[in-house]
Amino acid sequence: MSKFAELTLDGKTYQLPVIVGTEGEHAIDITKLRDMTGYITLDTGYKNTGSTTSAVTFLDGEQGILHYRGYPIEQLAEKSTFLEVAYLLIHGELPTKEQFEVFERGIRRRTLVNEDMRKIFDGFPVNAHPMGVMAALASALATFYPGAIDPNLDPDAINLRIARLIAKMPTLAAWAYKNSNGHPVNYPQNKFNYIENFLYMMFSLPVEEYTPDPVVVDALDKLLILHADHEQNCSASTVRLVGSSQVSLYSAVSGGISSLWGPLHGGANQEVLEMLEAIHQDGGNVDKFIEKAKDKNSGFRLMGFGHRVYKNFDPRAKIIKVACDNVLNKLGVNDPLLEIAKKLEERALNDPYFVEKKLYPNVDFYSGIIYKAIGIPTNMFTVMFALGRLPGWIAQWLEMRTDKQPIGRPRQIYTGHTKRDYVPMEQR
Ligand code: MLT
Repeated sequence: MSKFAELTLDGKTYQLPVIVGTEGEHAIDITKLRDMTGYITLDTGYKNTGSTTSAVTFLDGEQGILHYRGYPIEQLAEKSTFLEVAYLLIHGELPTKEQFEVFERGIRRRTLVNEDMRKIFDGFPVNAHPMGVMAALASALATFYPGAIDPNLDPDAINLRIARLIAKMPTLAAWAYKNSNGHPVNYPQNKFNYIENFLYMMFSLPVEEYTPDPVVVDALDKLLILHADHEQNCSASTVRLVGSSQVSLYSAVSGGISSLWGPLHGGANQEVLEMLEAIHQDGGNVDKFIEKAKDKNSGFRLMGFGHRVYKNFDPRAKIIKVACDNVLNKLGVNDPLLEIAKKLEERALNDPYFVEKKLYPNVDFYSGIIYKAIGIPTNMFTVMFALGRLPGWIAQWLEMRTDKQPIGRPRQIYTGHTKRDYVPMEQR
């Protein structure tokens, strides 16, 4: 039986349909509100407003639940691989062996980047932040593959664009890193798998001397799985809104990269390491900073703790904590920042102040530690987040375009000057 919400305005009562999602989420459908009442709703930051229905990812912040296409993140992190999860998010089902081989081969064969695109790196300043490079080059892909600006959704053409993007992002990311060091780039070696190839391109060993470390490869694969999608987060919503104008997938993803660059979104893991470095530079007294975090007037905030959506714990953090311990133990890393991190973690998990305020270590806390332990520099942390989130952005974009959703065009409530006449400059 249909359910309605009743709204009484100016003495008139309206019925607004209620929709219920497959996980029991309820929404009041206001699609026709303005036509019916002349009113719009206002919800700055969209904290209470759904921008779309979606079948890609379900998360429950109160219960700490995260499902990709119905599969619990815990099972995918344990049993799947990043490229298999990418297929699942994009195509909606786990691939058969043959489907996966076609998908993986299509990516493995497209890891090279046009040499004219490689020359663009020479135009960036040597200290260019890799996220700025990635945002520019992701959109530039549409100039090297102009067919991508065709708004038609021919499945083969779309799958080719998706394969190119997933294949080339790690190459561009590694090259952005090499460029920031003034180092020559490493070209992809397609005998390696997706993660191995990225690590090879990043850490410039002669290919004959490069032996992938399975513990590191596994930890990175898990990290990318955990970051693969997160429903309508800021960057995914950006990809949907930019993509709704029917610009190319590459340019829509470029918008997502720019959004993720922000310190309030993907930049959080970089902020974690900068916090650890500040504590280390100050003498490494963790207790001192724990007390500062409790003092609202101190201006010090613990980065990498708590989450705006997960109210009790971040399911991704519980998984990556195990991989973090494995990597640190395997690599035998003795790094003062990592020692500080483990003391912070221990305090946050046991101090009543942090427990009551749900300030538990989140996925950004542990991801930054793993990246540092394997030698990835701080300014590449958000790039790692972007590599992980890429299939989620693609899945959200594809769903929005396949559903033939209209161009996004939110309304507003105007609060500026009412009509007034122009005054010549000599009279002002
Ligand atoms: C994410 O994974 O995108 C972050 O946790 C932020 C969010 O979901 O809003």
